Amino acid sequence: MNPASTKCKLVILISGGGSNLQSFIDAIETGNLNAEIAAVFCNKPSAFGLTRAANAGIPTEVIDHTTYDNRDSFDRVLMDRISHYSPDLIILAGFMRILTPRFVHNFRGQLLNIHPSLLPKYPGLNTHQRALDAGDKQAGATVHFVTEELDGGPAIVQSRVSIEPLDTVETLASKILAEEHKIFPLAAQWFAEGRLQLEDNYAALDNQQLPPGGEKISG
Ligand code: GRF
Repeated sequence: MNPASTKCKLVILISGGGSNLQSFIDAIETGNLNAEIAAVFCNKPSAFGLTRAANAGIPTEVIDHTTYDNRDSFDRVLMDRISHYSPDLIILAGFMRILTPRFVHNFRGQLLNIHPSLLPKYPGLNTHQRALDAGDKQAGATVHFVTEELDGGPAIVQSRVSIEPLDTVETLASKILAEEHKIFPLAAQWFAEGRLQLEDNYAALDNQQLPPGGEKISG
């Protein structure tokens, strides 16, 4: 999509601590991701991720969803402000808002999300607790293209971790987060290299349809 010499222009959306955002900042700094972050958007004025962005000299925009009457009016403003930067790729890095079909359609093929489960298992919230409750032996994280279906778009890359008998929600979340920080910038780099596309209903890497769950990386 981009010639190798051109940096992929990213806009990153966050709602919280921004450790995934930090993994992008770090991957760019170390040369593992050929991209620039044009702006960070956040729906929570107090999110620590905003400090991370400011520390890295990245422009930030806070669009507080609580000041909008409904999801549609919030998304219209968000869409309009993001378009201002003409990004190649939009990264949902712990952005805890469900986006409207209009938004998703507008940026089709340019929206990546990370989800802390081995999708298609456990879309939605409380993924770590659900994996523990089910007695699963493994858990993980998945990067996927965003479509209208919540956490249901075609998977790009997945990393697994073992669930040990003494794992709690906290220990499991922290193990999985470490994997998130590896696979999310990696997927963005594939996109930046022009190797990754969203086709009609699957993700393709190097013109090959990716398998269910996407490429597998072991943690
Ligand atoms: C991550 O676990 C992500 O998968 C989930 O929210 C968390 C965000 O963490 N959707 P951070 O804000 O990037 O630290």
